[in-house]
Amino acid sequence: MRRKIVAGNWKMNTTVPEGEMLVRELLEMLKDANPVCEIVVCPPSTHLYPVGKMTVADYYGKEQIKLGAQNCSEFVSGAYTGEVSALMLRSLSCKYVIIGHSERREYFREADDSLFHKVSRVLENGMTPVFCVGEKLEERENNREYEVVAGQIKEVLYRLKGADMEKTVIAYEPVWAIGTGRTATSDQAEEMHAFIRKIIADKFGGLSEQIPILYGGSCKPSNARELFSKPDVDGGLIGGASLSASDFTQIINSF
Ligand code: PGA
Repeated sequence: MRRKIVAGNWKMNTTVPEGEMLVRELLEMLKDANPVCEIVVCPPSTHLYPVGKMTVADYYGKEQIKLGAQNCSEFVSGAYTGEVSALMLRSLSCKYVIIGHSERREYFREADDSLFHKVSRVLENGMTPVFCVGEKLEERENNREYEVVAGQIKEVLYRLKGADMEKTVIAYEPVWAIGTGRTATSDQAEEMHAFIRKIIADKFGGLSEQIPILYGGSCKPSNARELFSKPDVDGGLIGGASLSASDFTQIINSF
């Protein structure tokens, strides 16, 4: 069976003390839980050190929550003011790094070539990239969603070796569903997830069956169970709802 993952993308929200409080609440709510999924939180980079201290060997003696980052530099190290390298993230015990979120593609003009380098830096450092794909509203309205998502995958992931592809996680996040309250239906999600798996299989063969594909975009306690019931939906990348320990816990318990 493929591994299931629920990852919280906090985006640019919370101060450090608020973030610590959120993790404390989450650890408390999860202390007796036996979730079937891996749980990941991706706080802002300023929070990684304190949050990592709380989660990596948490005070219940287990690593219930894994640490993820929201981005990393495409460069290895050196004179790149303001950047955070993959090695730095690894040194803080990050296990996951979100790459190519639509907000980064749009507001920070991250393009395929740079995303390929970012994915490569993450893999070189033994972490798991969560590579985001997804179409915009006008692309879906023009029936271009499959072409757009296939292009995003081919331009970046097709450049990986099979051994690296095997270690990668994909998140399908239709841009029109992110932060809008408008979720893809579970059938729309399943269709796209199955399509993504096929595109991966076209290049990499059977290992596509092992790749977790997460859904993201207004996933919340009220729709998570229905989305996660679909055969190719292996969990979620959760924005807004991950800022509430109780909502996030309910989503974790939705398999
Ligand atoms: P949302 O964000 O859950 O707030 O829609 C998801 C994401 O952007 O990862």
